[in-house]
Amino acid sequence: MISIDDIRKPILADLEAFDEFVTQNFSAEGDLMQEMLSYALSSRGKGVRPILALLSAMLHIAKEPAEGNEGKERRCTKRTYLAAMLVEMIHTASLIHDDVLDSADERRGRASVNAKWQSDMAIILGDYILARTMAIGMASAQYDLISYIGTAMATLCEGEVLQSQHAKNLDTKRDDYFTIIYQKTASLLGVSAALGALSVGANREEVDRMRKFGEAIGIAFQIQDDILDYKRDNNTGKPSNNDLREHKITLPLIEVMERGDDTLRAEIISLLKRCDKDEEAVNKLHNIVEERGGKEYAAETMQAYIQRAMHLLSKFPDTPYRKSLLMLCTFIAERDR
Ligand code: FPP
Ligand code: MG
Repeated sequence: MISIDDIRKPILADLEAFDEFVTQNFSAEGDLMQEMLSYALSSRGKGVRPILALLSAMLHIAKEPAEGNEGKERRCTKRTYLAAMLVEMIHTASLIHDDVLDSADERRGRASVNAKWQSDMAIILGDYILARTMAIGMASAQYDLISYIGTAMATLCEGEVLQSQHAKNLDTKRDDYFTIIYQKTASLLGVSAALGALSVGANREEVDRMRKFGEAIGIAFQIQDDILDYKRDNNTGKPSNNDLREHKITLPLIEVMERGDDTLRAEIISLLKRCDKDEEAVNKLHNIVEERGGKEYAAETMQAYIQRAMHLLSKFPDTPYRKSLLMLCTFIAERDR
């Protein structure tokens, strides 16, 4: 099984430089703000977005002739680190806010910021990270990169509101689901890949191709996340079946509802209504999805997006960076956490 370390291998030096770049740029005045900031930054997770931005940049650097620098190690630029930081910090802030909205006590196996310091502080910390990110971006004057960022933030908010609306009405259909996961996950992964390419001077067509690549793996990533939520002993550091408790209708359940009759759909909705306070309803729904192959159907759809993403890389020469991006596709499809 592919590990995230295999994928990181060709950009290890750049990832270290990126971490250093983030540490240098992110420090806060005031003990409590610094404590909360350090806590949030110390559990940033796998770093899929910066990895994607750096690999996308290197994919383009490696296809240009070395021009007198033959044999020398080729590296990303500071502009790429900035691009990676912009997307990673928006992601970090959005998860801090998301845990407030979901009243989640845990994130990546540790107490969430809201569980540790209450929701009001978590909101301020998320806002602070966004504000600092924009301030660093503006100070760098790399306006072509920053212009993507406002739209990315707005799209995340739209996705979150749409998801809440559908969770309240229990009326998520396939199209709604795809709009939600595009907005809350795929859009930012698309921007991560696009900005990586843009940061090293890729042309419009190439930037667009990388954006499509990021979006395709983003959709696959979120479908896999939603499948993992149905696995009883998952390794995600989050309790299973959380989506059901939060009234979120995701692809495994949509697949079952689409294939069932009106009676089954009515039963599912009536169980779903009780999932926030009734563990028996959660278990029953879990079993319905399990028995009717909801996860397997969802996995087929996810695989189609993975294939689409892999195909988008076929025009690039075979370099360690392309190999890593292909491994990232496989990793997303196979991950169990
Ligand atoms: C995780 O989804 C949530 C997101 C990917 C996006 C959250 C976006 C917001 C809260 C809008 C605010 C935006 C900004 C820019 C601050 P999930 O709840 O399905 O996943 P989880 O299981 O990891 O919590
Ligand atoms: Mg959440």
